Amino acid sequence: MRERTLADRLLRWFARHRRDLPWRREPRDPYRVWLAEVMLQQTQVTTVVPYYERWLERFPTLEALAAAPLDAVLKLWEGLGYYARARNLHAAACAVVQTHGGRIPATVEGLLRLPGVGRYTAGAIASLAFNADAPALDGNVKRVLSRVHGLSAPKEDELWRLAESLLPPGRAGAFNEALMDLGATVCTPRAPQCPACPLRTLCVAQASGDPEAYPARLRKKSTPHHQVITAVIVDEGGRVLMGQRPPDGLLGGLWEFVSSELRTSSNSNGEDAFGSGSSAPLKRMIVTRTGLHIGRADIAPLGEVKHAFTHFRITRRAWLVRLATRCHATLQPKGYGRLLWASPAEVESLALTRSDQKIWQMYRNTTTGS
Ligand code: ADE
Repeated sequence: MRERTLADRLLRWFARHRRDLPWRREPRDPYRVWLAEVMLQQTQVTTVVPYYERWLERFPTLEALAAAPLDAVLKLWEGLGYYARARNLHAAACAVVQTHGGRIPATVEGLLRLPGVGRYTAGAIASLAFNADAPALDGNVKRVLSRVHGLSAPKEDELWRLAESLLPPGRAGAFNEALMDLGATVCTPRAPQCPACPLRTLCVAQASGDPEAYPARLRKKSTPHHQVITAVIVDEGGRVLMGQRPPDGLLGGLWEFVSSELRTSSNSNGEDAFGSGSSAPLKRMIVTRTGLHIGRADIAPLGEVKHAFTHFRITRRAWLVRLATRCHATLQPKGYGRLLWASPAEVESLALTRSDQKIWQMYRNTTTGS
């Protein structure tokens, strides 16, 4: 009985307070639902909206996405981060077109077979686009359920079973989105708005007087910090040497200025590469990564960029390396899929990592007006 009451209250609240978001327009298009769910996995709603709109202008259908080269897909994803999401979405679109005649599977089981589709995404697509009775638990939903039921350290499976038991048959889509909205707007991690919550009289965490204590926060391990040196290598014709990261792994398929992590046993801030006054470490890095022997070159510091990933942080120190001639040497990429001498316009057409975009801006600032 209590469960029924919870779903009813939630759905009544949702009818009045649901957020009007572009991917919620009826009738739901499974491709659009899928795209939104993938974009929203690690990214806030307000960031996603313009990416979502732009994406649909360029790839209005699953077929259009499947027919596009991966480079174009990554370029459109540029800045959203977690690029494996875009690579998997593209691979999955190709798989659906090739093996399912372009029809997105309507069941959790069928969806789970697609690249990049996990339990959450499968449940969200099945319930939102196909009205299947499937739960979809993201971080917000897990927090709401933990609080309502007073679970301090719930196991993943426990929460999924709980959500399943609460689903109102035939209304799972609205139920899932209602939980998402409640978690995003009322039952927030800090300072939850309990007086505005439709579930407050059922909520164990609220009754405890300290709702924020649920679920208990795990103590964060300190994140490793890596140092990276970067060379913006520019030849006499103004072309810039770009490297494409290998397709798999972190930032796979994206382009960057020639870079390498410093595996230094000396001090941790890269002084050996930058502060000693010697350009030798930078030149060594360049020859290792590209096969290019930098002879006489004008080398100057460009700046520093910091970036945080989920499990580590990086500091990139960038150098501007101006070659005195047009470079005709044969390149030997090491750890790059491809190397490319790119004009400034070409650089801007490549999918760059976020920190490379910042480095590019630094470079542009040195060249404008000169
Ligand atoms: N976060 C993940 N999926 C969402 C959705 N469909 N609506 C709003 N926020 C979300």
